[in-house]
Amino acid sequence: MKYVISSTYDEMSIEAAKYVADAIKAKPDIVLGLPTGGTPVGMYKELVRLHKEEGLDFSKVRTFNLDEYLGLDSDHPQSYRYFMETNLFSHVNIKKENIHFLSGIAEDPNEECLRYEKAIADVGGIDLMILGIGTNGHIGFNEPANCLQANSHLVALAQSTIEANARFFEKKEDVPTRAVTMGVGSILRSKEIILLASGKSKQDAIYGTTNGVVTLDLPASLLQLHRDVTLFLDEEAAAKIKK
Ligand code: GLP
Repeated sequence: MKYVISSTYDEMSIEAAKYVADAIKAKPDIVLGLPTGGTPVGMYKELVRLHKEEGLDFSKVRTFNLDEYLGLDSDHPQSYRYFMETNLFSHVNIKKENIHFLSGIAEDPNEECLRYEKAIADVGGIDLMILGIGTNGHIGFNEPANCLQANSHLVALAQSTIEANARFFEKKEDVPTRAVTMGVGSILRSKEIILLASGKSKQDAIYGTTNGVVTLDLPASLLQLHRDVTLFLDEEAAAKIKK
């Protein structure tokens, strides 16, 4: 595992955006795996700036988002699809047909997950997967459990995740209790992975991601089995591993 540790969230976001921008320049038709959540917002903002001010070209870039809430349509303001439109897609020259998402309103979510895995395989897999991390160590919506699903699947959200994500909704009861997500295999099959984490609340999860122990109690610890992972952290998120 490699580490890029910045003193602030803003610096971390710029470092991560620079890394992604370089990857796009090296392979203009790169296949990216994309996260949502509060953490990547600064990185997306910087990618938009790089597009607008420095001509970073998204015209051939292809994207697959990690996950989506079950039951939320793409124009629901709390859907991850809507988040991506607002934070990235509507500000850059990415082509609509190159944006891929698990639908939260598919009639048959299991079929939808199979379709998604095939779509990823059809483009030759994900080149660069960008991840955030939950306070409980979840990646995508792969929550701590006795067993994890390798491929995209339907999942029940952990109570702690519902509580953590309630800040984006009017009230906690509005947070969907289920989601569709890439599996840990879908993530680990990516050629390269970067993970962003910021703040004290992620210290333990980051420690568990790097301490040499692989456990399904902390799904991000599986990243230790991958040969090309870089963590972009701010000082607070890195505090425990620096000790
Ligand atoms: C959500 C998403 C994850 C994300 C995590 C952390 O539950 N499904 O992909 O990494 O939350 O979010 P935040 O960056 O807001 O802490």
